[in-house]
Amino acid sequence: MSSDKPFRVHLAKSGRTVDVGASETILEALMRSGVEVESSCQSGTCGTCRTRLVSGVVDHRDFVLDDDEHASNIMICVSRAAEGDLTLDL
Ligand code: FES
Repeated sequence: MSSDKPFRVHLAKSGRTVDVGASETILEALMRSGVEVESSCQSGTCGTCRTRLVSGVVDHRDFVLDDDEHASNIMICVSRAAEGDLTLDL
C-alpha cells in the first residue's frame, strides 16, 4: 500500500471536500472528518459501505461490485482514486 497517493474527495450533497492521505482509506478520512458513513468489514467484501459515485476515475479494489456497478458505485473502505479527485453522492 506504500505506493498509494493522497487525493481529495468532494461530497456533492454537503459541498464538503475531504483530503484522503496516502495511508488511509476514503472511509477512514470521512470518519475522521465527522462524516457519517456506514461500514462493517472494511475489507471490500460485505457491501455495507457502498457509495454512489458522481464522478472521477476509481481504482476499484472491492470484491462486491460487478463491472456495471463499478460505473456508478464505489466501496469506500478499500477503493481509491486512480487519478485526480473523486466526487461522491454524500
Ligand atoms: S465496509 Fe464492507 S465492503 Fe466496505
